[in-house]
Amino acid sequence: MTSPVSYELVDDIGVITVANPPVNALSHAVRQGIHDAIAAAQEDASKAVLIICDGRTFIAGADITEFGKPPREPHLPDLCNTIEASSKPVVAAIHGTALGGGLEVALSCHYRCAVPGAKVGLPEVKLGLLPGAGGTQRLPRLVGASAALDLMTSGNPVDAGQAAKLGIVDRVVDGDLRDAAFAWCRELVANDAERRRTSELAVQDVPAGALEEYRNTLARRTRGQIAPQKIIDCVEAALSRPFSEGLQFEREKFIECMKSPQSAALRHMFFAEREAAKIVGLSIDTPLRDVNKVGIIGAGTMGSGIAMNFANAGMQVALLEVDDEALGRGLGIIDRNYQGGVKRGKMSEEQALACRGRISGTTDYESLSDADLVIEAVFENLELKQEVFAKLDAVCRQGAILATNTSYQDVDRIAAATKRPQDAIGLHFFSPAHIMKLLEVVRASMTADDVLATCMALARKIRKTPVVSGVCYGFIGNRMLGHYAREAQLCVIEGATPAQVDTAMEEWGMAMGPLAVFDLAGLDVGYKARQGLPQAERGDPRAFRVADALVEMNRLGQKTGAGFYRYDPETRQRSSDQEVQTLIEREAAELGVEQREIDAEEIVDRLLFALVNEGMNILDEGIAQRPGDIDVVYVYGYGFPAWRGGPMHYADAVGLAHVLQRIREFEQGFGSENWTPAPLLEKLVESGVTLAEWAKSKGN
Ligand code: 3HC
Ligand code: NAI
Repeated sequence: MTSPVSYELVDDIGVITVANPPVNALSHAVRQGIHDAIAAAQEDASKAVLIICDGRTFIAGADITEFGKPPREPHLPDLCNTIEASSKPVVAAIHGTALGGGLEVALSCHYRCAVPGAKVGLPEVKLGLLPGAGGTQRLPRLVGASAALDLMTSGNPVDAGQAAKLGIVDRVVDGDLRDAAFAWCRELVANDAERRRTSELAVQDVPAGALEEYRNTLARRTRGQIAPQKIIDCVEAALSRPFSEGLQFEREKFIECMKSPQSAALRHMFFAEREAAKIVGLSIDTPLRDVNKVGIIGAGTMGSGIAMNFANAGMQVALLEVDDEALGRGLGIIDRNYQGGVKRGKMSEEQALACRGRISGTTDYESLSDADLVIEAVFENLELKQEVFAKLDAVCRQGAILATNTSYQDVDRIAAATKRPQDAIGLHFFSPAHIMKLLEVVRASMTADDVLATCMALARKIRKTPVVSGVCYGFIGNRMLGHYAREAQLCVIEGATPAQVDTAMEEWGMAMGPLAVFDLAGLDVGYKARQGLPQAERGDPRAFRVADALVEMNRLGQKTGAGFYRYDPETRQRSSDQEVQTLIEREAAELGVEQREIDAEEIVDRLLFALVNEGMNILDEGIAQRPGDIDVVYVYGYGFPAWRGGPMHYADAVGLAHVLQRIREFEQGFGSENWTPAPLLEKLVESGVTLAEWAKSKGN
């Protein structure tokens, strides 16, 4: 096998070129190749050494696919030390992204240059790790402890300009990178430049107490996560220990992180997100339809946010409403959102104006006749949506994609209102639509392949994370949520307070407890949805007694200042409310439920395993392509902690046999109506196979 690293002497410059597509990850062969090339350069006529990469990027990090496998020499920290120890000056020439181990290689070089568009960063924390090849020791020496902490605990990259200001990069070079880097190498040789070894620099001290303050702030912001705290430990070591001891300390902490379930979960999420973009059975060269002009029907909560996504991506958007008043309201939401974005520093005034300028309002369906994609976001009512689709069928050009943002309705029945069901699809955005990352792409039975492929590509263009779902009530996310919500509310009827339920879930890691989420979304939303269903399909009637009663008391949640909680009008801080407690006790008594103490473990297990059990059914029915897709839905759409890896990964992590055992206990205790173990779960436990193994065996 040829090496992904080549070495050649060009005049008196030794050039090491890494060519390991797609992102030049530091696989064993790459590490070996660089190691051998550095060794060769020590012996030959070179006077300086250049490390440069082919393809779209500089080295984007360690090879994540090798994590968890037996490590092979040369190890990356040793390779970095070897580079730094070179007797000839070594220059890194950066384009694309120098991330993680890639930046650590660059930090070990004596000089670094980058093209203006390049980005550098240490994103290991996003994988539940810390920079493990000297990054925690070299970066503080180069940029100071405080900036290094910010970079490493956020994991966010900086661009070449900022990197130069911070001192990570010495030069930002225009024009061809290779030419510029060569010229610089020659200059260094001519000046007999020193070998600037980062490890030999002193670390600037930080004010007393600064690290402790950082630790406390981070403990709140990254609640439950271990890697950020260990990064601070490493920086503390950089400040207090010699370089070699700091390096040793970093190694130990890196290995602890690598072995942690949190890192396993985050690495799973990294690949799951990328896998979700792939559609089983759909060729990657499926032709795409052109989408430049987008129509949105309904400028309410969702339509207005959806419109912004496309305008922000440079597309023209026509927003249609029933009348001028409704249109004015919708455009007003958009104006306020853009102003908010500018205030929060998300975009400049000019950018906001340019984006807003791409959105026009209309009340005339004819304005949509040249749209390439139309997304319907009117009230959640099947007949109304069918009516809208019939109108679209009459006015839209042939080949236009007709999408619905329905949360629950049958996309096949909506598509059937047109003579072109092959062009219809579900595009289920999450609220607030201009912020939430998840997009469920609902593939109806007649949806054409190119419509599906176009929507997946479009999702990326508007910076969403798409997941394909089949048609069923609530698709992947809301269908599962129904079971989670049921258990949350049953726990309340059985004796847990709303605060106990929410605190248990928040302490476990959910961004927000379920009852607080209902208050945020508006209790009337679920109420109306239930009213639209036949009695038999509304689910366990005991579960919604309290929520329904709250709606009937006009306690709709945050928007009316009260729901399951009472809300401070200024701070929106929630507090428990005796009125609700009295209501809960009354409803429980009417239902003949004897209230009892419910501990946090029971709350967490009931809510999470309800999710997992339904997730298993969804997989069995082929509604979701693979377990990882469900995890992406939950992490990007429902505030599930990424470091727990999504509900399905979590089930594998705690063991499917344990999950099944708990579900059987719940079945015994609470009845089989809500708790019938999913056949797939039983099958997997019986055969001793994990979900991940099952997915792999299916080629997913
Ligand atoms: N190792 C292995 N594979 C990787 C990888 C890595 N570090 N980074 C990306 N890939 C793979 C992806 O899985 C994907 O594979 P696929 O095509 O089969 O799905 C392919 O490369 C392309 O990746 P993207 O789709 O993400 O491409 P983009 O152009 O959108 O993004 C990127 C490129 C910004 C480099 C992005 O891939 C990324 O952020 N990668 C991860 C970077 C990272 O976390 N590096 C640190 C690794 S940990 C480390 O270095 C430890 C060290 O301190 C010891
Ligand atoms: P909304 O009530 O805020 O807005 C609906 C808008 O549609 C109103 O402004 C109304 O005037 C307009 N409208 C009604 N009939 C119309 C017609 N015939 N032509 C043009 N406009 C018409 O509702 P919301 O919350 O924006 O929901 C819209 C859709 O998005 C629903 O299907 C809902 O299930 C779905 N959805 C809602 C989410 C949420 O959190 N609110 C999340 C994801 C999806």
